[in-house]
Amino acid sequence: MAGRAHDDLEPNDPELYERLADQWWRPDGPFVMLHWLAAARARLVPQARPGAVLVDLGCGAGLLAPHVRGYRHIGVDLSETSLRLARGIDPVCADVLDVPLADGCADVVVAGEILEHVHDLPRAVAEACRLLKPGGLLVLDTLADTALCRLVAVGIAERVGLAPRGVHDPALLVDRRALVRECAGHGVRLELRGIRPAVFDLLAWSVRRRPSVRMVPTATTAVLFQGTGRKIG
Ligand SMILES: C[S@@+](CC[C@H](N)C(=O)[O-])C[C@H]1O[C@@H](n2cnc3c(N)ncnc32)[C@H](O)[C@@H]1O
Repeated sequence: MAGRAHDDLEPNDPELYERLADQWWRPDGPFVMLHWLAAARARLVPQARPGAVLVDLGCGAGLLAPHVRGYRHIGVDLSETSLRLARGIDPVCADVLDVPLADGCADVVVAGEILEHVHDLPRAVAEACRLLKPGGLLVLDTLADTALCRLVAVGIAERVGLAPRGVHDPALLVDRRALVRECAGHGVRLELRGIRPAVFDLLAWSVRRRPSVRMVPTATTAVLFQGTGRKIG
């Protein structure tokens, strides 16, 4: 069972993605929630104009790609194995803390479920903002540094199979204020909104009556949240 195959690893060990590489595209696998989140994230990405570039930081196996057609979609990830599984993406095997792409190259920068995996949040934000053109859009989703999030998104979700066991290190959950402040420091006024799985969908999915679950807005950003902001200029 995928959820138990990596109990020997430290939380947030990159080796996890190598071991689970064959699970990325399984709609009922341990990355299932990433599929739902990719669909929700894509709704924040505008229709592509001709020649528009989207840089997808920590793209994994490219789950976002089918939802954002029309862009030149550049995917940056440390896991070569995951990148090999991505379709419709120009892969760049690199650290999101040091991206080998030019300043201002992107109309849209996406950071989906990556900020809670990095050891240097200010640096990751600086890189994301550096890549954006003036007027470009930053789109992100991540997990909040709260006790509720540690309970729900790490404790429960990893136990019931909505995320791989050990994928999150609670110490890396994201301080929302720091995130907004870092973005502002790089000219991006980030607005946050909470999201959660639709309860009825989740129940229907759990008894195999729905293939997927819609992510819907929720009042609190204390667990899972999205952020969007344009770079001034
Ligand atoms: C939870 S997955 C999210 C993947 C994708 N964004 C999605 O939502 O389907 C996190 C991804 O970030 C990658 N990753 C983690 N730390 C990274 C880093 N410092 N630089 C680049 N990629 C990293 C992992 O290899 C993994 O593919």
